[in-house]
Amino acid sequence: MEKLIQEAMLAEHKKMESMLKKFENHIGEGGSSIKEKLNEIKWNIQKHFFIEENAVFSLYVPASSWEVSSVDRILREHEEIMKLVEKAEKNLRRENVDKVISMLRSHAKFEDENFYPSLDEQLNSEQKEKILGRVGEIIKG
Ligand SMILES: [Fe+2]
Ligand SMILES: [Fe+2]
Repeated sequence: MEKLIQEAMLAEHKKMESMLKKFENHIGEGGSSIKEKLNEIKWNIQKHFFIEENAVFSLYVPASSWEVSSVDRILREHEEIMKLVEKAEKNLRRENVDKVISMLRSHAKFEDENFYPSLDEQLNSEQKEKILGRVGEIIKG
């Protein structure tokens, strides 16, 4: 069976989601070192965006105006999310942290439900293999 980009990225999003859940529980329990935990999340978000921007988008040519606007939207949201992370780092108020989490969730939902499935439909096996090869070079474990 051919490997799909949506499966690889869904697995990455699941890892991110379980990290976010743990973080939410930690905050809910009034846990300490929120700052360090947020920094850990930031690092993982940066790695994830690096994979998408450099292993996926740089090897992919959008084939329709929907795809062009979707890639634009995704890149714009990556910037917005990083700005929200920086804001939360400066001011660790619960609402600032919650904004990061909810934006990440809706962003990943769009990628999982719309963008990556359409990418899998559009690309041929060779193109997908190349992208998945690069994704695999960055993802460990
Ligand atoms: Fe993304
Ligand atoms: Fe993503």
